[in-house]
Amino acid sequence: MGKKLWGGRFAKKTATLMDEFNASIEFDQKLYKHDILGSTAHAKMLAKQGIISQEDCDSIVKCLAEILEDIEAGRIEFSIEYEDIHMNIETILTERIGDAGKRLHTARSRNDQVAVDIRMYVKDEIKNIIELLKKLQKTLIDVAEENKETVMPGYTHLQRAQPVTFAYYMMAYYQMFKRDEDRFEDCYKRTDCLPLGCGALAGTTYSTDRQFLADELGFAELCENAMDAVSDRDFALEFLSSCSIMMMHLSRFCEELVVWSSSEFSFVEMDDAYSTGSSIMPQKKNPDIAELIRGKTGRTYGNMITLFTIMKSLTLAYNKDMQEDKPPVFDSCETVKASLEIFTDMLRTLMVKKDNMEAAAKKGFTNATDAADYLVSKGLPFRECHEIIGNIVLTCLKRGIAIEDLTLEELKEFSPCFEEDVYGKIDIRSCIAAKKSYGSTSFESVDTMIKNAREDMKK
Ligand code: ARG
Repeated sequence: MGKKLWGGRFAKKTATLMDEFNASIEFDQKLYKHDILGSTAHAKMLAKQGIISQEDCDSIVKCLAEILEDIEAGRIEFSIEYEDIHMNIETILTERIGDAGKRLHTARSRNDQVAVDIRMYVKDEIKNIIELLKKLQKTLIDVAEENKETVMPGYTHLQRAQPVTFAYYMMAYYQMFKRDEDRFEDCYKRTDCLPLGCGALAGTTYSTDRQFLADELGFAELCENAMDAVSDRDFALEFLSSCSIMMMHLSRFCEELVVWSSSEFSFVEMDDAYSTGSSIMPQKKNPDIAELIRGKTGRTYGNMITLFTIMKSLTLAYNKDMQEDKPPVFDSCETVKASLEIFTDMLRTLMVKKDNMEAAAKKGFTNATDAADYLVSKGLPFRECHEIIGNIVLTCLKRGIAIEDLTLEELKEFSPCFEEDVYGKIDIRSCIAAKKSYGSTSFESVDTMIKNAREDMKK
């Protein structure tokens, strides 16, 4: 049994249960690389400022590099006795180089140490997530490009509403994931602030150079108030919120794919490589990935709520509650990355059943609004046109036909304003093509969206 790094003030040993309960090494070992990076920069700063000797610094830096190698090669076994990743590494360092190792923790506390580690981790993961989001956006644009002419019904209340193109639909999701990317980038800015060198809560008595630390570790700014620096987990909350919003978007997309792949819709079919069968029903092909991502959205919300609840009402500055910040952050990172990656593959290989989509768009009176707009063009007030078309729909429903199945004579019974040209105007493709407002589903407008998106992706 080694001695605790903080054991001086204690007369008795800690209980084994206490060690087990208190330890975070089981999960925070994920931070080993960031912890070593932070300690290496800290040692260099201490030497530069004459707080430790250059010789001590050199042996610390060299040994930390060896420890890193050993960890990565699986040669190190961490111990709950040393509580967390910070004290495990410091203990190994001191075992290997003696007094120099004991000098590393000068002008530093675990409070600023853990804060810098988790910020570095979140910064790295934001970059990874943004890369995956870009791949998804690129895939959405590609699918849109292939489906510029694919007509489908757009829905409100999951009732057929107006005809749109599948490309338009994909570009709607493109916008959502682009906002997600922006949100992660924005969160990155506030994560990119260095807490290291703040000490436990009040700063330190040494003439440290925190700017040097920021430069070494690639931080854009220094946290200005040490007490805030060690207490702040806003960046992690923002990160978990961004993950949650992103997953909410994915869950909506997944829900659509689940619905669309049912035989009742039969708009899409997932590639065999991304589907599963049933252990009892031989005919089944299930959209498990989409369902799992939908489910994992709940888990991502849970992680966000977990951290909000941990942080609620905590007095300044550090409290051990904050050790619980890591599992939700780690879990959301892994969940989001895995979901994005597999979703993108699934989307890339998705079979789009264009004929079924178009057939569905032709049913359900999706051209009713356009029929009303036609009458407006003949000089009638919109409310009146709405009423007339409503009556027509009612009649058609009873007869089981579409508006365009009525003869001109029959149409004229509802309004004398109808002319032969109505049929051209309420044809499904004309309805789409005729949209003029900025951002509409018209073929031209979607072309522009795709062009803009491609430009945007180059940035
Ligand atoms: N393992 C701790 C955590 O993750 C490190 C900070 C400990 N600080 C302290 N004052 N006990 O929060």
